[in-house]
Amino acid sequence: MIRKAEKSDLPAIQRLLSTYFLDIEELKAEDFMLAEGEGKVLGCAALIRDGSSEKEFLEIHSIAVHPNFRGKGIGSRLVNHLISTSVGQDAELYVKTTAPGFFEKLGFVRISDSEKLSLWKDCASCEHLGKCTQHALKYRKSRE
Ligand SMILES: CC(C)(COP(=O)(O)OP(=O)(O)OC[C@H]1O[C@@H](n2cnc3c(N)ncnc32)[C@H](O)[C@@H]1OP(=O)(O)O)[C@@H](O)C(=O)NCCC(=O)NCCS
Repeated sequence: MIRKAEKSDLPAIQRLLSTYFLDIEELKAEDFMLAEGEGKVLGCAALIRDGSSEKEFLEIHSIAVHPNFRGKGIGSRLVNHLISTSVGQDAELYVKTTAPGFFEKLGFVRISDSEKLSLWKDCASCEHLGKCTQHALKYRKSRE
């Protein structure tokens, strides 16, 4: 089952993310969608929406699936759910990730380093610039 997270889910989300040394950053419970099974949180993914610029900027953050449940389609279901419920026809959805192959299978395409730098201003001043392990990708919803 895929559902929106609630405040009371935060400890379970934090536990899941910490398995992979990911942190919850400044995200709030309402940013997350959860995959749940047998009353347990099996996966999570957050969608951040930044409407401050002319074009809406949407980004997937903090996606993780419980180690015992990886490779069963849960991560794909979470991303597809976010795309079908929260991404409009003209919006582009971005992700910075260490798992680019997973996102490519879902239709995301890699973007150039210059586009990455123009989108994430903090990357330009980052000490890992040039040896960053996070690949940037984008997804555009095609018109049916
Ligand atoms: C990446 C992750 C969220 C994917 O979730 P999942 O439920 O295991 O993925 P799915 O079962 O939906 O996999 C869909 C496809 O992507 C592939 N895939 C999964 N993880 C992958 C990865 N890290 N790299 C490349 N391909 C991957 C699967 O093999 C599968 O391919 P198939 O359709 O040919 O069988 C999960 O493996 C995870 O939690 N990884 C650790 C945390 C992490 O790396 N998060 C991303 C950091 S930004």
